[in-house]
Amino acid sequence: MAGSTFGSIFKVTTWGESHGKGVGVVVDGCPAGLALDEQTIQKYLNRRKPGQTRYSTPRKEEDLVEIQSGIFEGKTTGTPISLVVYNKTQRSKDYSEIAGYYRPGHADYTFDEKYGFRDYRGGGRSSGRETIGRVAAGAIAEELLKSLGIHVQAYTRSIGGIDIDETKASMDNIMKSPLYMPDLDASEKAELLLEQKMKEQDSAGGVIECVVRGMPAGIGEPVFEKLDANLAKAVMSIGAVKGVEIGDGFAVASAFGSDNNDSFVAAENGSIAKKTNHAGGILGGMSDGSDIILRAAVKPTPSIARKQQTVNRDGEDIEISIKGRHDPVIVPRAVVVVEAMSALCVLDMVLLGMTSRLDKIQEFWKRQ
Ligand SMILES: Cc1cc2nc3c(=O)[nH]c(=O)nc-3n(C[C@H](O)[C@H](O)[C@H](O)COP(=O)(O)O)c2cc1C
Repeated sequence: MAGSTFGSIFKVTTWGESHGKGVGVVVDGCPAGLALDEQTIQKYLNRRKPGQTRYSTPRKEEDLVEIQSGIFEGKTTGTPISLVVYNKTQRSKDYSEIAGYYRPGHADYTFDEKYGFRDYRGGGRSSGRETIGRVAAGAIAEELLKSLGIHVQAYTRSIGGIDIDETKASMDNIMKSPLYMPDLDASEKAELLLEQKMKEQDSAGGVIECVVRGMPAGIGEPVFEKLDANLAKAVMSIGAVKGVEIGDGFAVASAFGSDNNDSFVAAENGSIAKKTNHAGGILGGMSDGSDIILRAAVKPTPSIARKQQTVNRDGEDIEISIKGRHDPVIVPRAVVVVEAMSALCVLDMVLLGMTSRLDKIQEFWKRQ
């Protein structure tokens, strides 16, 4: 399967199937000298693992990460970092039924058409477990970015149409909400909606917002490797993400230039700032020094217990009711995945941008 590698300098390759021996990632291109241990990576993975709330699948997956290479005496060595999470609680028989038919909204049909057969156990490579490698690699990227003063934070913006009220939102609330919503009233309302959807054997979607703070201006390449284009690709590559917006996103289509333009202002320290941030921190494919603001639309979980119509592998119309353990909403577990993909993309672009100016290269070599 081609296309399992992301990034140009900070390069990550994820591997593994939901019900194979394990899932993991190889990170190549991580600079030497970053302090790193399993506990640090585990903290990020714990935000993704299921079974923590009523709104994620009751599967109990420990998802314990093991570092297999690339770290010596608590620091990255500059060589490939290999991370593995062994699959432990898989119940493949839950999924034997889906071998014979195509789940509406899932990737069963397209995998069969592309490869002629598929690892149907838990969705194989199209499973949400594939994102474990992304989050583990994203943890390293986030730690490295933090050391540069760049912070990436994602949270749930809405679920099933219930949106956060920005006046009530606080970043301190994110970890208090089982849905990772910064507005606890909206979180309670969304929980009630999910209870209802669970009774109806249905599922809900939502929006994840991600903010990158501390980003200097001028990161990103101006043509095919635009920062916004690469962020969109990074986040759209997550299963179930169906739309990505930067800044005001689709709303710009109905705005007028006089409102949509962000006025530049001279900041106190002699630098240049913007009065507003409709652009979401990116102009011409490069960061403009404001916070980068990205939103991802996540569809409702496709595997639902409610009766649905589909077709089996013999091409016959059938009615199904999907068994197995599935999230009634994907959004909360995907929050850290969006954060990880954003961090991986931003870090790669930061590293790529280091060769863009001769004066900075000279400054670097003079220091040697
Ligand atoms: C973290 C995460 C968890 C997911 N959990 C499930 C799940 O329990 N059941 C399911 O049917 N789909 C789940 N998905 C979504 C499927 O992987 C996805 O819808 C499927 O691969 C089809 O791809 P597409 O929706 O991008 O077209 C999950 C996705 C993510 C990112």
